Amino acid sequence: MSKKRLWITRRLSDATLERAARDYDVVINHEDTPGTAAELIAASADFDAIIPCHSEHFSADVVSQFSNRLKIVANHSVGVDHCDIPALNAGGITVTNTPDVLSDATAELAMLLMLGAARNAVAGDRIVRTGQWDSWSPAFMVGKQVTGARLGIIGMGRVGQAFAQKARGFGMQVNYYNRRPLAPDFERGAVYHETVESLLAVSDFLSLHCPATPETVDLLDGERFQMLPKGAVVVNTARGALVDEDALIAALDSGHVSAAGLDCFKVEPGGNPKFSSYDNVLMLPHIGSATRQTRDAMGFRALDNLDAFFAGQTPKDILTK
Ligand code: 8YV
Repeated sequence: MSKKRLWITRRLSDATLERAARDYDVVINHEDTPGTAAELIAASADFDAIIPCHSEHFSADVVSQFSNRLKIVANHSVGVDHCDIPALNAGGITVTNTPDVLSDATAELAMLLMLGAARNAVAGDRIVRTGQWDSWSPAFMVGKQVTGARLGIIGMGRVGQAFAQKARGFGMQVNYYNRRPLAPDFERGAVYHETVESLLAVSDFLSLHCPATPETVDLLDGERFQMLPKGAVVVNTARGALVDEDALIAALDSGHVSAAGLDCFKVEPGGNPKFSSYDNVLMLPHIGSATRQTRDAMGFRALDNLDAFFAGQTPKDILTK
């Protein structure tokens, strides 16, 4: 049987590309540039499958121009806000993602951002690096302690739960908001809040782990920042869409939010230059899942989904809306 044609839009891990080349008639975008609308439309006529990243946008408009060869979009991401799933499904195209395998890597990065933001990592690194460390005092760079503090998690899915687990290791009191409470085995002592507002009121540290959907755009706005305890630290490793960035800046200016750790921004790549002058904002370029093991696991999970689909089975991570 001839191999299925597969387009891989970005430079995935070597192990993923080797396996893909073994099993598929694969074309890889070695330039590693984000796939454009025109490229996606052209690919829909030339390929049976695409493995995209969150950098390729399958909007309803783009999908409406697809030819009917393409059968599956096997995302190399857990987030699928770049895909109009109803439009893809209506066009007879199956959509999958890569849950589970990136939860620990993303939770580790959230921990890094939380600790780094709380303990002045940006300013501290800069003064040592630039030779400006010329004095010391007990009052110098005093940060906020994590141990014993109240943590609020919005979105207690796989990544939220992995983060909660790591936070327990730091002696934090875990609170969470989710559409539904978790079963006790998954909750593991975390306190459920029925509303975002109730959660915010007890969040000395707040970490976002929910998907970006039309309902969660600007989930954290000016009003909500004010509901946090004074001096709260905010962490976002989920999606930039969840945060009103001007409102966050206003909350930093007033001191109501004392620091933030951000891996996601409204505009990516690039981020928001308005944060650049804030030493109390630790920023990273959307690298939550960027570890060697996780990149391999994400690539393999996307390929597992493709293999199942072309074997006539239901892929493990099939998404419908
Ligand atoms: C990835 C992510 O870096 O999985 C997601 O939703 O945002 C990140 O893990 C990216 O999407 C890789 O394609």
